[in-house]
Amino acid sequence: MKIAIGSDHGGFALKKGILALLQVLGHDIEDVGCFDIESVDYPQLADAVCKKVIKGKAEKGILICGTGIGMSMAANKHDTIRAALCSEQYTARMSREHNDANVLCMGERVTGPGIAEEIVRTWLSTDFGGGRHLRRIELFS
Ligand code: RB5
Repeated sequence: MKIAIGSDHGGFALKKGILALLQVLGHDIEDVGCFDIESVDYPQLADAVCKKVIKGKAEKGILICGTGIGMSMAANKHDTIRAALCSEQYTARMSREHNDANVLCMGERVTGPGIAEEIVRTWLSTDFGGGRHLRRIELFS
């Protein structure tokens, strides 16, 4: 799967671990930055990943900051982006099954690397349920 990924400085270390996992899983990854721990503004990275998804250049996006909150707020400003902030596997699965989330957000200062890897595995391998859930996401304005 083609996946766009981005982080700010607060999510940079966790992103490195997730990049390694995505490579092992055989995904086609585009890292939009940041590329070191120098302080950057997370909305710019959220925009870069969301634009890839909106333009069809990536099927899904992953965004990581310190808490995941800023990234999810910024991502959800974009039409057709359904970003889910997840800190455990259950919401990761449900965000795909019920909400057809197309962007996953996580917080490096909240979620340890082992749990984050399980979240990513679950999120990427869970299909949207469709049916009544499709009707509901179509009601988003
Ligand atoms: C950066 O210090 C921090 O504010 C950012 O990574 C994120 O947690 C914002 O929501």
